[in-house]
Amino acid sequence: MNSEKLLILVATMTGTALMAAEDIAEYCNEINLDTDIIEIDNSDLDILIKAKSPVLICSSTYGQGDVPDSAQDFYNKLKELSPDLSHINYALFGLGDMTYRDTFAYGGKKFSNLLDSLNATKIGDAFYHDASDGSLPEEVAVEWFKNNIKEQL
Ligand SMILES: Cc1cc2nc3c(=O)[nH]c(=O)nc-3n(C[C@H](O)[C@H](O)[C@H](O)COP(=O)(O)O)c2cc1C
Repeated sequence: MNSEKLLILVATMTGTALMAAEDIAEYCNEINLDTDIIEIDNSDLDILIKAKSPVLICSSTYGQGDVPDSAQDFYNKLKELSPDLSHINYALFGLGDMTYRDTFAYGGKKFSNLLDSLNATKIGDAFYHDASDGSLPEEVAVEWFKNNIKEQL
């Protein structure tokens, strides 16, 4: 691990993604990695564009495969402005529900596709949590982070 800090951007509707982010941050604290958790709620794009540390995006899915309402402005502005993000390394934890089979975890997938198209580099494999499988998103998130992301920061 070379990074000293992790920026965690959260897009949530009812707080599950935030809970997962907070538990990851708690684990990061244990391994002496500083974190900043920011809810994408009218956040300025500069938070991402000017990020100096790796970024973890935790995003759920609403509507018909959309990013949560609070993150729509941010997502749309990012798409419109299309800044080069080749300096950004990012990991993605998406939340969804397989009951919505045709749009499963599209919120996170949309963020991932957009960041890829802006030349950001993905760290590890994205994880998409399925709310219908009975697992606790925050537990799964910490395990995923520990085993797939931490070493690559
Ligand atoms: C009205 C509504 C629409 C949803 N639409 C989708 C969807 O299209 N695809 C999906 O995978 N999950 C969908 N979900 C499931 C949520 O993304 C999932 O429950 C998630 O864990 C919620 O996280 P949050 O509390 O951080 O917003 C929907 C949930 C609700 C209540």
